[in-house]
Amino acid sequence: MFFAASLISLLLLVSPALGQANLTAAHNLTSLEGTWSSGSRQVVTGPGFANPNNRTFIYPPTAGVSYSFTDDGFFESARYRFTGNGSDPHCILGAMVWIHGTYQLLDNGSMILAPFADGYQQIQDPCAAQSNFIEQYNDTELYISWQIFQDPVDGYKLHMFQFDGTPVAPQFQVSTTPNMLPTQLLVNDTPSFVAQSLLATNSGETWTPGGITALASAIFTVALGSFLL
Ligand SMILES: *[C@@H]1O[C@H](CO)[C@@H](O)[C@H](O)[C@H]1NC(C)=O
Ligand SMILES: *[C@@H]1O[C@H](CO)[C@@H](O)[C@H](O)[C@H]1NC(C)=O
Ligand SMILES: *[C@@H]1O[C@H](CO)[C@@H](O)[C@H](O)[C@H]1NC(C)=O
Ligand SMILES: *[C@@H]1O[C@H](CO)[C@@H](O)[C@H](O)[C@H]1NC(C)=O
Ligand SMILES: *[C@@H]1O[C@H](CO)[C@@H](O)[C@H](O)[C@H]1NC(C)=O
Ligand SMILES: *[C@@H]1O[C@H](CO)[C@@H](O)[C@H](O)[C@H]1NC(C)=O
Repeated sequence: MFFAASLISLLLLVSPALGQANLTAAHNLTSLEGTWSSGSRQVVTGPGFANPNNRTFIYPPTAGVSYSFTDDGFFESARYRFTGNGSDPHCILGAMVWIHGTYQLLDNGSMILAPFADGYQQIQDPCAAQSNFIEQYNDTELYISWQIFQDPVDGYKLHMFQFDGTPVAPQFQVSTTPNMLPTQLLVNDTPSFVAQSLLATNSGETWTPGGITALASAIFTVALGSFLL
């Protein structure tokens, strides 16, 4: 029994990325290979988003998500999002997340992302005791389903649904060749780093509850539209 279960999970783990799965035509409208980005397409994986060597980020002008996939089983993901706080509009949590690693497309239509250990995230929560920190992020992520649509105006669009069914913002195909950092563990040790301020770039905004409110609530409104960024 135990052996059978282990064997099945092993088979799932070693099955090739675009394998013999019960994938439908919708999965195969076009290859997953390439780079996908949501909304205004300002968040894009690759060297323009993350510097894993010193665990810093290059902040995009707007929030969004991006995923890239190779045809041989590697992925990278870049996420920049805000989450509001209904009880206090000043308490907007900002998060930057960068991971890369390997992915599996399961027979049942789900997708598993298994990050290498060098992923990291920065959390800024002006209302928390520790308001700004960067930490390792290497959680395995399950996407219960995914699908590629063809939008008459915007072309191919990737929809992914998180483990609990929550949709990821739909992403447009921004390139058919994946824009990614090298697909291997890039940082072995835990580097020291200084927390940067989200939003401290182009706009000249600083992370103060008053300063970010207008921008963040604009973004938040968009995010609330129906998707969790
Ligand atoms: C995906 O499409 C390619 C070419 O269009 C085809 O050869 C392949 O069988 C399709 N795979 C699936 C799982 O439908
Ligand atoms: C982090 O690394 C990047 C790329 O190597 C570099 O441009 C940037 O200045 C570094 N940032 C810090 C704070 O060291
Ligand atoms: C919302 O902000 C309040 C402080 O005003 C804080 O106590 C609470 O934990 C926050 N809720 C969330 C979900 O962050
Ligand atoms: C597909 O299989 C995985 C691994 O067993 C499981 O975690 C996931 O919930 C399954 N997805 C669906 C849609 O049943
Ligand atoms: C795949 O399809 C076959 C029949 O076509 C079915 O027996 C099997 O349960 C399906 N597997 C999954 C994981 O959905
Ligand atoms: C994932 O990160 C945790 C710390 O958050 C660490 O203890 C664990 O060893 C890491 N896993 C891998 C596979 O590196």
